[in-house]
Amino acid sequence: MKSREIHLTEYPKGEPGPQHFALAEADIPAPKDGEVLVRNRWLSVDPYMRGRMSGMRTYVDPFQLGAAMEGGAVGEVVESKDPALKPGDWVMSMNGWREAYVAPAKGLQKLDVSALPPQAYLGIAGLTGMTAYVGLKRMIGLKEGETLWMSAGAGAVGSAGIQFAKAMGAKVVATAGGAEKTTFCREIGADAVVDYKTTDNLAKAIREAAGGGVDAYFENVGGAHWTAALEVLKPKGRIAACGMIARYNDAGAQPLPDNLTHIVAKSLSIRGFIVIDHMDMLGEFITDLSGWMMAGKIKARETVREGIENMPGAFLGLFRGENLGKMLVKV
Ligand SMILES: NC(=O)c1ccc[n+]([C@@H]2O[C@H](COP(=O)([O-])OP(=O)(O)OC[C@H]3O[C@@H](n4cnc5c(N)ncnc54)[C@H](OP(=O)(O)O)[C@@H]3O)[C@@H](O)[C@H]2O)c1
Repeated sequence: MKSREIHLTEYPKGEPGPQHFALAEADIPAPKDGEVLVRNRWLSVDPYMRGRMSGMRTYVDPFQLGAAMEGGAVGEVVESKDPALKPGDWVMSMNGWREAYVAPAKGLQKLDVSALPPQAYLGIAGLTGMTAYVGLKRMIGLKEGETLWMSAGAGAVGSAGIQFAKAMGAKVVATAGGAEKTTFCREIGADAVVDYKTTDNLAKAIREAAGGGVDAYFENVGGAHWTAALEVLKPKGRIAACGMIARYNDAGAQPLPDNLTHIVAKSLSIRGFIVIDHMDMLGEFITDLSGWMMAGKIKARETVREGIENMPGAFLGLFRGENLGKMLVKV
């Protein structure tokens, strides 16, 4: 059997482009004892993949040049040589950026697709939702009645975070780029929304939207957002440093905000985190998410591109804000 897959051809410096990716074809062997053949159906598209394109180890190894790239994927078992899985079962793996693969069954997570669509496990019910949950619950410790600023509010983590924060009883100010995205943030519950692309004074706009300062900031963006957050946080404010996508394509040194003294003067707390270090919260997350879903408090939104050949374009689109909710590729 043949499977198409995406290779990284060189480690990009600065902004990546289509020239850094190649579509290749691989022969997929028949599964041996203990293995399964899986046809991927949904591929996750994530900003952290940019870090794996740097050629250096961060908290995860870099992608290998000239080999199939990796990422979250959900697929259907086509052939099985392991009693734990049968054809038609849905599984999750890190064998993304490809159409099909053979792998040991014991390394795959079997999915229950009776209550949720399979791709939800890459989005709101997967690491994306878990990231928002860990940031709000453990990093910020969000309390009922507090005011939160959620950045990249129309994105995957941001849109999950707005809804979770509302379910936790907080007031939410969201930022996003463009009218379609700000409307979406309001639809999913944000109390006030700022279009950062049309605002020349972000800190002032957030203050006005919040009716004063904010108790907590969920950092997905970095750059000018970070500077504005130090400005608008109240004394003892908390920041969950989840990501800084505005900086991921920087080729040189990253400038620091010129208002860092606010960290001292306002006794701010900043906690960076990587979601996979907090998997002990998975049970709690599933319990809360199930409850919120059953109460009709959660809407999952996806932007879907079709075909493995469109995976690089979907990835590059994250940096141009082309997604509303979770960016996925259907294969
Ligand atoms: N710590 C962890 O374990 C963890 C796990 C998952 C994700 N993350 C981080 O969480 C953040 C969100 O990830 P996601 O998967 O949910 O992606 P996402 O928010 O769905 O997609 C990225 C969004 O970022 C915004 N953006 C892109 N370039 C920007 C720029 N230069 N300035 C301002 N905004 C920009 C765009 O929205 P606009 O159109 O609104 O600008 C874009 O839609 C990322 O920083 C990611 O690295 C961290």
